[in-house]
Amino acid sequence: MSNLKIEKNGSVEIITINRPDKLNALNKATIKELGDAVTAAAASKEVTAIIITGAGEKAFVAGADISEFANYSAEEGKALSQSGHTNLFDLVENTEKPVIAAVNGFALGGGLELAMACHIRIASSNARMGLPEVSLGVIPGYGGTQRLAQLAGKGKAMELIATAGMIKADEAYQFGLVNHVVEQAELMDKAMEIAQQISKNSSVAIAAAIRTVNAGFNKKVDGFQKEIEEFGKCFETEDFKEGTQAFLGKRKPNFPGK
Ligand code: COA
Repeated sequence: MSNLKIEKNGSVEIITINRPDKLNALNKATIKELGDAVTAAAASKEVTAIIITGAGEKAFVAGADISEFANYSAEEGKALSQSGHTNLFDLVENTEKPVIAAVNGFALGGGLELAMACHIRIASSNARMGLPEVSLGVIPGYGGTQRLAQLAGKGKAMELIATAGMIKADEAYQFGLVNHVVEQAELMDKAMEIAQQISKNSSVAIAAAIRTVNAGFNKKVDGFQKEIEEFGKCFETEDFKEGTQAFLGKRKPNFPGK
């Protein structure tokens, strides 16, 4: 049985993590399914943006499934982290279509790490976020130590990780961890509104923008140089020709996505 529910609303793919009785905790099967679903959506010509959310009103994702790794050795723990990075968290971050996290409740541990791997985060006002791993005697292992410091700053990241504390959506908004906070009943509408706004634009240029913004967080790459290269490449795309001709012709563009 699948741990996901996958729906389409126009060109927007909505992936719902569907283990509400376990607060949508990420077991290995769910991580694999989620990675496969994001890969398939990224490859589909019909999809322009992806929304990830959690089933039920209580949790986005309450973390990695603790019951699966409680007896792991150091080697198994390292392999778990490595495969998670490769097969889901880095994969989401590097997906060349915008991935929006609609954080509908608890986003803890791997749940917050998943939201942080997404490109845009919207939280419902009841959402609670944290990286409580040190309260279990472990550290965040799906990118949390790095992405929380990137999004919220090193000091906030250190505090949140070391206290294993949980913050409310409003506080997360104050230090840039989430882009918007709305009432829970409005969460999916807000996510759809942003996804639809994205869908009007050139998918080729958006992909280039995602690659370029991500490059700035890759220590092995010069983000400014990457921007110069990606900017140049845009000029030979059909989308660029359509976008500029539509502007000059005072009409709305109809991007071919090439
Ligand atoms: N892994 C596995 N199972 C989890 C889970 C996780 N990360 N988070 C919640 N669950 C399960 C619970 O074991 C429980 O299952 P059960 O009904 O079979 O006993 C079910 O989800 C409901 O959770 P429960 O703890 O009863 O809900 P609550 O409202 O009392 O508390 C939380 C909610 C989120 C505060 C609490 O579930 C929690 O602290 N979860 C772990 C968070 C965490 O440490 N995540 C980081 C993991 S690295």
